[in-house]
Amino acid sequence: MPAIVLVGAQWGDEGKGKATDLLGSSVDYVVKFNGGNNAGHTVVIGDEKYALHLLPSGILSPGVVPVIANGVVVDIEVLFQELDAIEARGVDTSKLRVSANAHVITQYHRTLDRVSERFLGKRQIGTTGRGIGPAYADKINRVGIRVQDLFDENILRQKVEGALEQKNQLLVKLYNRRAIDPDEIVDELLSYTDRLRPLVHDTSLELNQALDAGKTLLFEGGQATMLDVDHGTYPFVTSSNPTSGGACTGSGVAPNRIDRVIAVAKAYVTRVGSGPFPTELFDESGEYLRKTGFEFGVTTGRPRRTGWYDSLVSRYAARVNGVTDFVLTKLDVLTGIEKIPVAVAYDVDGQRFDEIPVNQSDFHHAKPIYEYFPGWSEDITTARSFEELPANARAYVEHLEELSGARISVIGNGPGRDSVIERHSLLHD
Ligand code: IMP
Repeated sequence: MPAIVLVGAQWGDEGKGKATDLLGSSVDYVVKFNGGNNAGHTVVIGDEKYALHLLPSGILSPGVVPVIANGVVVDIEVLFQELDAIEARGVDTSKLRVSANAHVITQYHRTLDRVSERFLGKRQIGTTGRGIGPAYADKINRVGIRVQDLFDENILRQKVEGALEQKNQLLVKLYNRRAIDPDEIVDELLSYTDRLRPLVHDTSLELNQALDAGKTLLFEGGQATMLDVDHGTYPFVTSSNPTSGGACTGSGVAPNRIDRVIAVAKAYVTRVGSGPFPTELFDESGEYLRKTGFEFGVTTGRPRRTGWYDSLVSRYAARVNGVTDFVLTKLDVLTGIEKIPVAVAYDVDGQRFDEIPVNQSDFHHAKPIYEYFPGWSEDITTARSFEELPANARAYVEHLEELSGARISVIGNGPGRDSVIERHSLLHD
């Protein structure tokens, strides 16, 4: 039975839910391995709509064990709020496991996220303001607070005091804010311990034991490849590794146990926040994609930047993630466009690039070189097999497949859960 990693191929919001839904009943564990409550997915079950930011989507599927692994940064207040909201609707959340090694987002991380963004002015990253970056920074600086620290008051107090010593200097002297009282933070964190204790596990051990027992694990990446702190458009990235390697470091499951890597790509591209985006549209086509595709953030409500499909981005995602299968979502949004542009290379000051330029300023200056594919006008949302798609839609998908470096196994062709075309199983070769 396989371990499957699911990642975003572009800049996020590709619609991973479609792939999760398809794998549905085959999965025993859904593991979140990076990020925190900066993510956002809407899950519709029956008539009920759930917006989740921190909890893995598996929390809503009976029988699935949802896991928040060590690579995640956890805002415990948000965790409890999300649990309360879904418990109130009768969802059983008792199987949730949280890694003892996951780091905790505190009030000072949220404050620092917001004030440091403001301080950056024009250079700001456009973060979600949830404290993600500062919490990961503390982890790397070895002054973070881990979930397990909450169960030892002395250690917790020492660590919070240590972390705040420098931060209060920054807050007061640089950012002109009031200092944060360590006792306030410690008291808040201690107030969570009773409810948190039963959720805390050695999740690396459990996940490996689950694999030994033949269970199927789905590692669900937050954000996406181009937002990866190592492989994305640094510094306009999130502070974790949403690429497939992150599934291993972020969970304590080794690379040789991973069987499949599924990347989700939209049939066009969107991005929230700042940073380079070569195929971005500033005209009415961009507005059309935004309106037709409902491209507004689940977490922040921000309108998303929109642009044409960029095959260099997908090829890059295929390479750095070791993608075995692509899920191409929102194909229906392109219905009615006469000629569909797809970026096949970049022009950087007269030089052609067939792959993503490694140099940041080259990427900033990249102008897409487009190929144009004939569109279709038929409603495609009811198609349930590849053959039912109009010839031009099939040709578009086949061209993307050739350009993107891995097979396109699944196509999303409408907002409904069942608007999906499965060309190959996501579970097997
Ligand atoms: P942070 O993750 O809040 O630090 O934000 C860093 C960058 O990642 C910003 O450009 C955010 O807009 C972007 N980002 C974070 N989470 C998501 C997501 O789930 N979808 C799309 N973009 C995201």
